[in-house]
Amino acid sequence: MNKPKLIIVSNRLPIKIEIKKGQWQIKTSEGGLATGLGSFYKEKGGIWIGWPGTQIKDKAMASEIQQSLQRQSLEPVFLTQQEIKEYYEGFSNQTLWPLCHYFPSYASFEKKNWLAYQSVNRKFAEAVIRIASPGDTIWVHDYQLMLVPNLIREQLPDISIGYFQHIPFPSYEVFRMIPWREQLLKGLLGADLIGFHTYDDVRHFISAILRIMDVQSNMNIIAFGKRLITAEPFPMGIDFDKFHDQVSRPVTQKYSQRIIEGLEGKKLLISIDRLDYSKGILQRLSGYNTFLKDYPAYRGKIVFYQLIVPSRDKVPEYEQLKEDIDKQVSHINAQYSTLSWQPIQYFYRSWAFEILSALYYSADIALVTPMRDGMNLVCKEYIASKTDREGVLILSEMAGAARELTEAIIINPGDADGMAAAINTALQMDPSEKMQHMQIMQENIKKFNIHMWVNNFLNSLSIAKEKQQKLSTR
Ligand code: G6P
Repeated sequence: MNKPKLIIVSNRLPIKIEIKKGQWQIKTSEGGLATGLGSFYKEKGGIWIGWPGTQIKDKAMASEIQQSLQRQSLEPVFLTQQEIKEYYEGFSNQTLWPLCHYFPSYASFEKKNWLAYQSVNRKFAEAVIRIASPGDTIWVHDYQLMLVPNLIREQLPDISIGYFQHIPFPSYEVFRMIPWREQLLKGLLGADLIGFHTYDDVRHFISAILRIMDVQSNMNIIAFGKRLITAEPFPMGIDFDKFHDQVSRPVTQKYSQRIIEGLEGKKLLISIDRLDYSKGILQRLSGYNTFLKDYPAYRGKIVFYQLIVPSRDKVPEYEQLKEDIDKQVSHINAQYSTLSWQPIQYFYRSWAFEILSALYYSADIALVTPMRDGMNLVCKEYIASKTDREGVLILSEMAGAARELTEAIIINPGDADGMAAAINTALQMDPSEKMQHMQIMQENIKKFNIHMWVNNFLNSLSIAKEKQQKLSTR
């Protein structure tokens, strides 16, 4: 019998294919999941199944890409343009994403998107079933693939399946707005272990299944038919050493020096987000505007770097958000700039890791203020990168990370006055207090890192499976 393997399934692979002038190239993804599991899945003799991020029309090219990826233990699931539009942009990002982030007015409920979601989930499940053998462990990731656990379970009743949701699970009152809520929950219940970032997500999930499905639960254990399913929180960590060690590398030191010299003594405030309404970018700009208005002594003495990484820009709400941000940034700059100072430096693109590391290291304050976020890893990356320079984290109470990082200045992201006051507090904070808070948060993030997260999840999955097996032999 072959050695049992770990099969990871996520919408995106940890790499993406880029096509330029008819030639394809493999680029690595920088996401938390990709860096965290990137080496791990290979060590475990694992395979990663997912979409390579681009439509590949040419069949010969698709097969060449597939062979090359397979040599790296990656199994691509190719999507057509229509599937990208209806399953990815449509049901995943215009139905599930807005609802799970409490933006129900942005959610659409289109049957054709739901049909595409079902058929693409089947496509992913079939890819798993083709390569899975008895004894393997399957780990499905995130909201794009909620039906996959049960689709696999129907074909492989005894296999070990875990599901982790990287975004919030909303309150029942919001979740029940989805006409196909029961099918989605049934999809998840195919797993043996269902993980979320926080205890609140687990609570919301259990409340939804108790009201929508015919199940019973004892705390976080759910009895569904003849099976027992465990739901548990696993707050995700980052690769602490990767961020911490990068800061002292010569290339990052060179960039940091340039950034700090360029500031000419001004304080640096930084925010880094994917373009998304859930990140609270417009509300943050309004908070910064209030700060400049109410604390005029800081005009000319502080600069705000707002970095936005392009994302999902074919979805109308994202397109609109981009326009609104452009307008608000110009408005603030037009109102407060002087001949020698501009209050906001705004960037709309991706950045190399060395530069990001230098920006984190150089920033006096990080403003991480999502309206809602499953976890938020940017704030953890900032903390890991503050090796010796002082820094303060201003963090939204709506980010999953706020449960762990209680030494940050915690704010409500919609409260512009509160945000302005928090920036002032951060600027006034005594250096020893800043160091003390940073040290506590660093110890926490160093310990509860991505490796611990992966191990905890997989250990709990083995335990959940054992419970399952005991039940079936009774
Ligand atoms: C969030 C989701 C991930 C997703 C990422 C980037 O972090 O939880 O599943 O991959 O955003 O979004 P994208 O739509 O570009 O994959």
